[in-house]
Amino acid sequence: MRKKIVAGNWKMNKSLDEGLALASEVVNIVNDELTNDAIAVLCTPFVHLSAVSKIVAGSDKVFLGAQNMSEHASGAYTGDISADMLNSVGASYVILGHSERREYHNESNAQLASRVDVALEKGLTPIFCCGESLEIREAGTHVEFVSNQLKESLFHLDAASFSKVVIAYEPIWAIGTGVTATSAQAQDMHKALRDVLAAQYGQEVADGTTILYGGSAKPANAPELFAQPDVDGGLIGGASLKARDFVDIIKSY
Ligand code: PGA
Repeated sequence: MRKKIVAGNWKMNKSLDEGLALASEVVNIVNDELTNDAIAVLCTPFVHLSAVSKIVAGSDKVFLGAQNMSEHASGAYTGDISADMLNSVGASYVILGHSERREYHNESNAQLASRVDVALEKGLTPIFCCGESLEIREAGTHVEFVSNQLKESLFHLDAASFSKVVIAYEPIWAIGTGVTATSAQAQDMHKALRDVLAAQYGQEVADGTTILYGGSAKPANAPELFAQPDVDGGLIGGASLKARDFVDIIKSY
């Protein structure tokens, strides 16, 4: 079902104490101030999940997510984390295919397809990231490139399974650079992706899909981005590390 979601991707930031303080502050401000029907997802480093889970437990507005996950169930995969482990610490979302994982860890569309399957099997909601480099944007092939990421990692799913996936469009040139896509660029791409989804799964499924925007989103530009008809929310990096900024983004629908 299409939802308003603002997910904070903490990336490799915050000690445990700092993370707990940030999560507590987010929950407190959300409880005091959030009146719209958006939800927040805190995607913390793995080692913080268990403790942050206790802070968000009981909230119907703030949920817990991981930043990655193995496609394997268990076994000799040193350093990896399984879906069962994420479930056991209370995570309900998992970011898959973030551009930093694709770039620094060579994650492929095929591997991500397996991870999406495992996440869905285990009841986790994948936040599937897609997005093009500046080079591809300048060549004008961005819609084709991102459509292909969806096709290769998601289109093996049947409509019922696909409906459980959240998509995050994150142009790589806008991540952590301070350069945000304009609201028109975001809307154009989100609309194009929704059309691709409609061709594959039908208009009803496409209209029900949550598509988030990510890339230098902040309180100053979130209202305009979220006002676009095909932008359902955000995946927020830098601005999710300050509780006030993060909640102001959630409030900006
Ligand atoms: P940013 O990161 O908000 O710092 O640009 C977004 C992301 O990488 O998810």
